[in-house]
Amino acid sequence: EIIHLENYQPTDFILERVDLTFELDPTETKVEARLIFHRRENVDVNAPLVLDGDELKMTGLLLDQETIEPAHYDAAESSLTIRNLPASAPFEITITTEINPEANTTLMGLYRTKNIYCTQCEAEGFRRITYFPDRPDVLAVYTVNIIAEKATAPLLLSNGNFLGGAGMGDGRHFAAWFDPHPKPSYLFALVAGDLGVVEDTFTTMSGRDIALKIYVEHGKEPRAAYAMDALKRSMKWDEDVFGREYDLDIFMIVAVSDFNMGAMENKGLNVFNDKYVLADSETATDADYANIEAIIAHEYFHNWTGNRITCRDWFQLCLKEGLTVYRDHEFSADMRSRAVKRIAEVRHLKSEQFPEDAGPLAHPVRPTKYREINNFYTTTVYEKGSEVTRMIATLLGADLFKKGMDLYFVRHDGQAVTIEDFVRCFEDASGRNLTQFALWYHQAGTPLVSVSVEYDTAKQSLTMALEQMVPATPGQPDKEPMHIPLRFGLLLPNGSEATATSVAGGEVTGDVLHLVERKQTVVFEGISSRPVVSFNRGFSTPINLHFEQSATDRAHIARHESDLFARWQALNDLATPNLVAATESARKGEPASVDPSQVETLLAAAADETLEPAFRAQVLALPSEADIAREIGSNNDPDAIHSGRQQVMTAIAKAGRDVFARLVENMAVSGSFSPDAASAGRRALRNSALSYLVYAENQAERAIKAFRDANNMTDLSQALTILAHRFPHDVSTTEALDEFKIRFEDNALVIDKWFGIQATIPGDGALQRVKALMDDPLFNASNPNRVRSLLGTYAFANPTGFNRPDGEGYRFLAKNILAMDPKNPQLAARILTSMRSWRSLESQRADHARNALRDIAGASKLSADVSDIVERMLKG
Ligand code: ARG
Ligand code: ZN
Repeated sequence: EIIHLENYQPTDFILERVDLTFELDPTETKVEARLIFHRRENVDVNAPLVLDGDELKMTGLLLDQETIEPAHYDAAESSLTIRNLPASAPFEITITTEINPEANTTLMGLYRTKNIYCTQCEAEGFRRITYFPDRPDVLAVYTVNIIAEKATAPLLLSNGNFLGGAGMGDGRHFAAWFDPHPKPSYLFALVAGDLGVVEDTFTTMSGRDIALKIYVEHGKEPRAAYAMDALKRSMKWDEDVFGREYDLDIFMIVAVSDFNMGAMENKGLNVFNDKYVLADSETATDADYANIEAIIAHEYFHNWTGNRITCRDWFQLCLKEGLTVYRDHEFSADMRSRAVKRIAEVRHLKSEQFPEDAGPLAHPVRPTKYREINNFYTTTVYEKGSEVTRMIATLLGADLFKKGMDLYFVRHDGQAVTIEDFVRCFEDASGRNLTQFALWYHQAGTPLVSVSVEYDTAKQSLTMALEQMVPATPGQPDKEPMHIPLRFGLLLPNGSEATATSVAGGEVTGDVLHLVERKQTVVFEGISSRPVVSFNRGFSTPINLHFEQSATDRAHIARHESDLFARWQALNDLATPNLVAATESARKGEPASVDPSQVETLLAAAADETLEPAFRAQVLALPSEADIAREIGSNNDPDAIHSGRQQVMTAIAKAGRDVFARLVENMAVSGSFSPDAASAGRRALRNSALSYLVYAENQAERAIKAFRDANNMTDLSQALTILAHRFPHDVSTTEALDEFKIRFEDNALVIDKWFGIQATIPGDGALQRVKALMDDPLFNASNPNRVRSLLGTYAFANPTGFNRPDGEGYRFLAKNILAMDPKNPQLAARILTSMRSWRSLESQRADHARNALRDIAGASKLSADVSDIVERMLKG
């Protein structure tokens, strides 16, 4: 069944209050829901109340405490319909259901993870707990009573503020919670069990003291210190930058080890995948620390963008997610290096979102139809949604953007709203018409902007001819021209910047050129000499840019741009044609020839001490194999891409041996471990240099030594990755892998890394290795992190190992997806999206991929999650 945006209707009944009582039991939990409703004005007096359910067993149903005649209701697994209800007076429905948390392997609704009761209700998990109007535009105030055995569940948590609790004399105890803020059911949470806690406090800008608690497994408390620090910084930042103050007396985070996603912003009670909470120097990498900081912030920021103001329906998911990702990006940029953060964001956007937007799963940031909403928690909704928010800030400028955000918070507090409501706030605050701009929410596909420039010495004028094209995507063959805000710079030969005396043919505000027509010619007068044009500074707009620029011009940008992101982009653009050419050579079985001047420019940047180490590390991280595949676009051969890229790496490594040796020496971080961005940057540059040195020497010694010397997880896992990827058959690699496994056997998050490193070893042997690892006693098919670390990493991040010419990789994945689907459809569907770019492969692989997808599609009893994905992948 497909749900369409245009069919949106408010509910017939308004929910006034929710009173829930849970009698927790691992296999027979009793839930009593008392719901007070009244019929909305002007709704037909005969209209029944229809509530959502999912796999529910109802054991009781009352209307105002009286039993309801069986003729007046229908209870099915997926809905409860009640007729003959009062015309206008409020009434109370009491529903009793019985659920089995232990048997709930979907990890949606109420489930058990390591003896902890835990919930995940977004998007439609609450209906697995009780019959309910389970949709985001139904906001109500909740009271929650939890009863459980005291010995095994001393901790009973839910949303809001703690009302009280006591023992019950029978070995059980209860706790009551009240959340004064009206909320939709997807923000409900309950956690019960035995956990350790880390406590702190935060004083808000108006002087209120908030109790902060992070709950983790006993013994892991010290590893929650960084998360607590990140939480306090997030709370302060949201006050300083967005003027947002926290609104309950307590803020809790619970870390659990079985979780489908990263984390969840339940009101006052965030539930996290423990991967995004737990860290110490011995077990977490710098990337882990950065992710923890970002995700703690993300979930906290949802308190305003998502919870206080929520979505009218799930089509509006980007209303909360795009905006909240934008907010967490800005937070991380303020905590760390803004330029390096931006580079990392763009790399991620291009490697994840661009392929989605170019393939069969492409959809608008604000879709208009869906079959399974879980499949729309995508990088398009999240990351492209964030970019669209960023463009609003670019278009309006910081002050008007702030004015628009303030208006949004005042106008819509306590409401469930739409993207149109959001955009209108910025129109009203700025007086600007954003109708054309809003196409970014509605048209899927990455726009392609082609530019050519011409300088006229006699007239001292620069002419830019621009053209935009938005590619066809599933369901959207024809596109309207978009409003594309392109930041740019005109760099003169001495490196300074030219400003035009006048501009004709288009609007330019500051350094933003507004491309609004399909074709547009913009003339800049008064440019004293031929400038080098730097386009899309800071990646101001998420487009593919087609602009023929000489290597000399790119090198000029790399040296002189004031925008550091643009400098990185120029260096990346210099490397790309070399990598594409090397791929072509490899395909013909010829050795790659690498342009020495490009290598020199790259090495000069790597050695440039005026640049921060983290930036230089980003320069040395060449475009990935997926980036190269995207650049080539079609008829891809992952083996040729891999081999071409390896050859370019080797050429750089050999030419830069001295540079790299010096970096390994100079970038060593002394003193005790600190996860700060500057130290992390030094480690990143040093490890990158180390990896190049190993390429140059083609010997394992240096990596073995690095593995022995490492005193933190970043260095240790990097050294192990180099060993495993470069010398998979070496006895020292086997020894290092074994040693690592034994040392960290008790730490699931580190063992995930151990699986991941091996799953990404490129080449022919990968499949056998992954199969063997599935039989390892440490593999656990019911733990999502573990499944992602082995199967997910293999399918998403091992292009040669997965895309085997014989198609065995696809068949293996298909078999595993089918095995996983009945237990955890969400996870199965997510991992299956790794095949989203199958059509851009060369025909032999593409045929195998299609057949594997058809095998999945033809299987009986597929979940809605998997069948939606597989059908769209075969069709689009
Ligand atoms: N709202 C959560 C976040 O972005 C993600 C929850 C997704 N859950 C799901 N079942 N798809 O922070
Ligand atoms: Zn979110």
